[in-house]
Amino acid sequence: MKRILITSALPYVAGVKHLGNLVGSMLPSDVFARFCRARGHDTLFICATDEHGAPVELAALEAGKPVAEYCAHWYGVQKELGDRFGLSFDNFGRSSSVQNHELTLHFARQLWKNGFLELRTTKQAYSPTDGRFLPDRYVIGTCPHCNYDRARGDQCENCTRVLDPVDLKNPRSAVSGAQDIEIRDATHLFLKQSEFVEKLRAWIDSHKSEWPQLVTSIALKWLDEGLKDRGITRDLEWGIPVPDDIGGGKLKGKVFYVWFDAPIEYIAATKEWADNNNRGDAWKHWWYGDEAKDVTYWEFMGKDNVPFHTVGFPVTIMASDEPWKLVDRLKGFNWLNYDGGKFSTSGKRGIFMDKALEVSPADYWRYYLIANAPESNDSNFTWEQYAGTINKDLADVLGNFVNRVTKFCVARFDGKVPGEGSYGDEEKALIAELDRRNQQYTDYLEQAEFRKAMGELRAIWVAGNEYLTRAAPWTLIKTDRAKAAVGVRMGLNLVHLFAHLVWPVMPEMAKKIHEAIQPIGYDNGAIPWPGMNMAEELDQLEAGMPINPPDVLIAKITDEQVEEWKMKFGGADAGAP
Ligand code: 2FM
Ligand code: ZN
Repeated sequence: MKRILITSALPYVAGVKHLGNLVGSMLPSDVFARFCRARGHDTLFICATDEHGAPVELAALEAGKPVAEYCAHWYGVQKELGDRFGLSFDNFGRSSSVQNHELTLHFARQLWKNGFLELRTTKQAYSPTDGRFLPDRYVIGTCPHCNYDRARGDQCENCTRVLDPVDLKNPRSAVSGAQDIEIRDATHLFLKQSEFVEKLRAWIDSHKSEWPQLVTSIALKWLDEGLKDRGITRDLEWGIPVPDDIGGGKLKGKVFYVWFDAPIEYIAATKEWADNNNRGDAWKHWWYGDEAKDVTYWEFMGKDNVPFHTVGFPVTIMASDEPWKLVDRLKGFNWLNYDGGKFSTSGKRGIFMDKALEVSPADYWRYYLIANAPESNDSNFTWEQYAGTINKDLADVLGNFVNRVTKFCVARFDGKVPGEGSYGDEEKALIAELDRRNQQYTDYLEQAEFRKAMGELRAIWVAGNEYLTRAAPWTLIKTDRAKAAVGVRMGLNLVHLFAHLVWPVMPEMAKKIHEAIQPIGYDNGAIPWPGMNMAEELDQLEAGMPINPPDVLIAKITDEQVEEWKMKFGGADAGAP
């Protein structure tokens, strides 16, 4: 049995995530995980909230709440929204968990012992107004690379370059806006990333054919520009404290940098999954040593996360000198834009997960987003395009097909699968086409090529519709009942096949469609992938079996709704918390 480990980039805990966040990691990883389960692979799908770091502390400060309480609240919100979107994580953990504290210390101690960490005195931004050092996002200023004027001290949102707060031009405090930033000496722990450049390059090169070009180009650019050693401690209250045995007691009151502990949470959340399910060491068999050799590890993330996953986390693993698993397949995404501009959490611009569900069921969003996933380019959300996709692909093609066939079967064949007649040339031609398309669809999903996969899925629905139009059982019923029966039987078999094929993308819809034909009795919750032989798959339903047509499967979106939503979501207060 194939073993597939899948992680989604961990959403920052604060606030409801927008659809750009959703389509950049959590949703595609879910579709992929469901596909793997449907295929019968042994699949483990892990995510968590990313809870440490300056932004969270800042947000809690603004909200006037203790950080721990603040995080627990938002974890609950994200967990619930993930469930409502059908995100089928085997564990949705928290990077503040006990498991992550332990594993982060384990890695840090290994790195210290192996000589890859050292104490350095650095220049750090300090604000006398605030009376404190200002790590990372506590400083805002102009990006030295692209001149974006609201770059954060840790990374420029505009050009994705990783920054150091002291690099920013015109720096100011994010706490108070104070511009009296001084540069003072401070002692921190540094990870000697620069010693790993050659090893990293060889490793990245070895994945060139499998990783999207977007990913390898970002990774290699980073190496080409000269990899700097990275400070992995911060002056923050909230986080994983540096213990005295690392750094000779000179790091009192400091915590590990969020980007040091966050990826380790992938492993820690797996451990938590095992702990919660009394699975003992099962977590290690996904991550460590010989037992994990047959695991293929897939990571999903937005492009801004690529440097941390192609350099930061791999260096942690390499420097540990222990056989932890490195990523095999790294799927990176571009940005989804909102009506020509950026989705923005801070600017409250765009559509957020909670508000999205007030507009449409989760499956509509899932389909739209996956069909328009920003794979080779950024993609752009507009309400017109959204309505067009739902109305054309889902309502006119898929929904209409299911309703047409099932209703007709009830009207003229007593609501039972008709047994008369046998498949002829029309049916054989359709089977041949679907043999090809189904193989193609499966291959695309196996490679996590989502847009192409959805194009093929759509083409499969269209082929079904065209077949039914040609077969025209509603006309034939008057002259040749047996021939009409063949069309209906094939139609019902197609409905059944569609349920299986859409499950990874639209799980609730798939269940509804499946239940129109027969009750679902699968125990792991997955609707299994169909066999590859369409002649068999499309001749499965037993004659005489009763069916159960659904009510209108997909409601069309009206022009009035589009106008209403544009007004509602277009403005400045578009629904962020
Ligand atoms: O960019 C982000 O949203 C980060 N919270 C992703 C972290 S991924 C992982 F490494 F933890
Ligand atoms: Zn920049």
